[in-house]
Amino acid sequence: MTTATPPSAFPFTVVTIFPEFVDAYAGHGIIRRAAEAGHIALTTVNPRDFTTDRHRTTDDRPYGGGPGMVMKAAPLAKAVDAAKSRMPHGLVALLTPQGKSFTQETAGDLAGTDGLILVCGRYEGVDDRLGLNHVDVEVSIGDYILTGGELAAMIVIDAVARLIPGALGNEDSAGDDSFSSQLLEYGHYTRPRIFDDQPVPDVLLSGNHQAIERWRFEAAVIRTFLHRPDLLKDRPLTRETIDVLTEWRDQLERLIG
Ligand code: 6GU
Repeated sequence: MTTATPPSAFPFTVVTIFPEFVDAYAGHGIIRRAAEAGHIALTTVNPRDFTTDRHRTTDDRPYGGGPGMVMKAAPLAKAVDAAKSRMPHGLVALLTPQGKSFTQETAGDLAGTDGLILVCGRYEGVDDRLGLNHVDVEVSIGDYILTGGELAAMIVIDAVARLIPGALGNEDSAGDDSFSSQLLEYGHYTRPRIFDDQPVPDVLLSGNHQAIERWRFEAAVIRTFLHRPDLLKDRPLTRETIDVLTEWRDQLERLIG
């Protein structure tokens, strides 16, 4: 899929034998809107178009035997070269469970590049020799195995695209993923005021913006402590975070005596 865009669009090219997966994902929601508005540009390159045999073969049996098939290096290499010729400054990332873990910090780093060429493997893996001359970084989206890199590539695109200025349509949305990567988000509420006997916290109806900010920050800290204490461990805590935790500790101490 190609969208006509001004030169400022952040370019993504996905190298995949299943371009329709990527097109389907790119055809909806915020990603579609960001492409239409020229903030990002999404294209695909199909390694199958770079095969030379009658069956357009992109995989083959592994040397040394064993189950499954391995993606051949040559069609992928030619596809990456074709993508690179259109995006000479793009970073080439191979999606593989062997890669470096993708985090919000990685997303920020990748959003700072001149563009991404995301290479999707399928089957049991990709011929190891692709890496030397055709891949800059290997990226994994987590410690589990997918049937192919396409979903991983879409996750990377989604997380990176929303950091591209203008892509969300609403300039402060991305930064306010709250107090960003250190804390989980506070809870959100919309109408009605009472749902399943649960009222919206009063402060959110108060119109007091300072009190609302304060409540949201405390909610983010406490939620992080309860659900993901690992995010608070072994990292420098901000003064404000320490103050919230201290206040809650003091309240608990008073409660249990
Ligand atoms: Cl990038 N690819 C595959 N196939 N499985 C994965 C992955 C990538 N990241 C986590 N699991």
